[in-house]
Amino acid sequence: MVTITMAVCAVLHVSFLLMGISSGQTSVIQTEQTVLAALGGEAHLQCRLTQSKVVHHVTWQRMVPEGEVDMASYDEHFGKAVNKEFREKVEFIEAALQSCSIVIREVMEQDEGCYHCLFNSPEGSFTGRTCLQLYELHPPVLHVRASDSTAESAVSCSATGRPAPTVTLTVTQPDLHLSPYSTVSVNNTNGTVAVTTTAVLSGLHRNGAQVGCAARVLSAPQIEVLESVPEASAGGLDGGSEDRGLSGRIRMLSIIPPLCVMVICAVLLAARLIKKEESRNLQRSESMTEVSEVIEVLADTENNELRKRSPPKSEEQESPQPPSHVLKKLNFDG
Ligand SMILES: *[C@@H]1O[C@H](CO)[C@@H](O)[C@H](O)[C@H]1NC(C)=O
Ligand SMILES: *[C@@H]1O[C@H](CO)[C@@H](O)[C@H](O)[C@H]1NC(C)=O
Repeated sequence: MVTITMAVCAVLHVSFLLMGISSGQTSVIQTEQTVLAALGGEAHLQCRLTQSKVVHHVTWQRMVPEGEVDMASYDEHFGKAVNKEFREKVEFIEAALQSCSIVIREVMEQDEGCYHCLFNSPEGSFTGRTCLQLYELHPPVLHVRASDSTAESAVSCSATGRPAPTVTLTVTQPDLHLSPYSTVSVNNTNGTVAVTTTAVLSGLHRNGAQVGCAARVLSAPQIEVLESVPEASAGGLDGGSEDRGLSGRIRMLSIIPPLCVMVICAVLLAARLIKKEESRNLQRSESMTEVSEVIEVLADTENNELRKRSPPKSEEQESPQPPSHVLKKLNFDG
């Protein structure tokens, strides 16, 4: 018996609430049920009285699980005021007693939710409710790849967004034909979905033919990109990457010859200098004052030759000691 009464009360309560919403408030206040805003963009929230009322005060509130939080208010005596915690985020666009609108800047995920506008009058307060829905849409990436064997091109377009975007391919010329295409969706870990649509493009490719790709999320403005159809004989994207490889090789080739020439020149010059020094020193070797110089030069030459013949590690062990035949020569001269 008790449960039946409770159920009846609950039903009455619900229907009363529904009546209240449908008859009173919504007809007095005009507002958008849902406002779409791009991630990082701005959201404009507006409320307007459809009937003239005596209003002293308008308040914007944010709905939170615990109830509501006052964000900003406009008063006929005190003017505009934005609460401290919303000052970076919220600003009045229109502050008036019959129509009031705010902007929420740099919209983030935590700004998603519903907002109330309250028009306080001696008759009571008229409340409008508007909800902010966030979307994310990155510009689509479109590829048109021509093959030279057939008159067909492969077209693919990929767009990332939240919720999942719709991707549409279009052609700019009536003699081009796009085959019915396939669409693949991938869920990203951050909640966005990457949608890739592929198609085969056939028909005559006149100069300047273009393929378009439009990405759209909900009713937000679509983002469209255009790509020229490569001419059938041009080789398309693969040719492009080959070209890049070739130009890389050309760059390498243009670096290598000067390097070789420089190395060869350096070696030849060094050899000539060594020979000259050797012959000059042999002539002078009778003079005792120049013995040390001879040793130095010969040691240097020897070390250079050793360096060429043996791995660089042995260089440290051998350089402090002059080679044995230099020592012999020193003994002979002395
Ligand atoms: C991606 O997420 C949607 C819902 O968000 C789900 O219905 C779908 O099955 C998911 N797809 C994959 C491949 O996980
Ligand atoms: C979500 O992930 C996609 C791909 O991984 C990336 O392009 C996009 O910028 C990400 N979005 C955010 C808000 O980090």
